[in-house]
Amino acid sequence: MTDENIIISKGLEGIYIADTTLCKIDGANGKLWYRGYPIEVLADKSSYEEVAFLLLYGHLPKKEELKVFTQRLISERDVPDSIADIIRNFTGRTHPNDILRTCVSAISAFDTDMADRSSDANMDRAIKLTAKMPTIVAMIGRYRQGKPFINPSRTLSHSSNFLYMLTGVEPDKESAKLIDLMFILHAEHGSNASTFSTLVTGSTLADVYAAVVAGISTLRGPLHGGADEAALNMMRAIGEPDNTETYIEDALAGKQRIMGFGHRVYKAYDPRAKIVYNYLKSFMQKTTDPKIEKLLEIAIRAEKLMEEKLSKTKGIWPNIDFFSGPLYTAMGIPSELFTPVFACSRVVGWTAHLFEYWENNRLFRPLDHYTGQLDIKYVPIEQR
Ligand SMILES: CC(C)(COP(=O)(O)OP(=O)(O)OC[C@H]1O[C@@H](n2cnc3c(N)ncnc32)[C@H](O)[C@@H]1OP(=O)(O)O)[C@@H](O)C(=O)NCCC(=O)NCCS
Repeated sequence: MTDENIIISKGLEGIYIADTTLCKIDGANGKLWYRGYPIEVLADKSSYEEVAFLLLYGHLPKKEELKVFTQRLISERDVPDSIADIIRNFTGRTHPNDILRTCVSAISAFDTDMADRSSDANMDRAIKLTAKMPTIVAMIGRYRQGKPFINPSRTLSHSSNFLYMLTGVEPDKESAKLIDLMFILHAEHGSNASTFSTLVTGSTLADVYAAVVAGISTLRGPLHGGADEAALNMMRAIGEPDNTETYIEDALAGKQRIMGFGHRVYKAYDPRAKIVYNYLKSFMQKTTDPKIEKLLEIAIRAEKLMEEKLSKTKGIWPNIDFFSGPLYTAMGIPSELFTPVFACSRVVGWTAHLFEYWENNRLFRPLDHYTGQLDIKYVPIEQR
């Protein structure tokens, strides 16, 4: 191919990398399905455990299958003692997502047969990571607050147990529903940046842990999984609801990005954001905490202004990350844990994609277009 014919797709925009039966995103119409099930239905009727099973095994579980899967997750909630030591050895400056990444890497050392790359052994690893990551994130959160670790519950659901281990309080019915909803909505989303890097790592036939570590690392940035933390920081900087419009207008005039808005694939309202937004509006009527009330009002006013300014004109709609922050805050989750909490949920999406890709693996090896000079004369260092 001559240089003139090279087409560069920056950010791989518009490039398909694989066939999948995991997830379909209709970006033009703002629709999303996991394994063919509309996200609205799963959000309303399902549980994280059921969705995790659906993503990993390809079908909704029968009662007995769900029972076994749930028990399996519960039995894997504990983490080795050395994970606590690793967490204690990090200073407060290290972002929790980076600590999580290190702990997941360390978990691989406890795999007794890394040479076993069978589907069963890999599924086992995915289940272990899904079960253990919330424990690790809760431990990181507790340690940063100077509080003792809490052992996992053997009876609470996957997501409620996470909140319990983090806050020390068993969530009430409403918080339990909300955290489970957030886990369901974050579980999977096609070949987004972190899933893609999981696949790139996996395509070299590196192991599940290495691939998940790549996913966790990629999730961290504010253009991806870090957006909800950045969006909440913006809401906090806005401070008072009456400052919302001026703050956003100034930010847009200064060509700043409003975190939690825009998406590479959705050019309509992100259906996950719609679900969370509706929840947020009803939550607003119930909350009695003035701090949460302020955050919710800022989020709602910002959404309204952005819709007038950017959504209808430029197709930049809110994504799920815009509304997560105020709700996580209401549940007692500190903002620096938002991204690792996202990772706890997305680990099933990452591993399900990885297993699907491995069925027909091909090493990722794209090309880059060289634009430098060639055959430059080498000048010895003394003469440069
Ligand atoms: C997600 C994101 C990276 C996708 O971007 P993309 O497909 O690469 O689109 P681009 O960066 O090319 O942006 C296209 C245009 O929209 C604008 N835009 C995109 N997101 C914007 C945002 N959040 N706020 C303001 N303007 C935005 C860009 O400035 C650009 O404008 P221009 O054409 O005048 O230069 C981008 O929307 C973004 O940075 N959003 C904020 C981070 C975020 O919420 N990430 C979570 C995604 S789930």
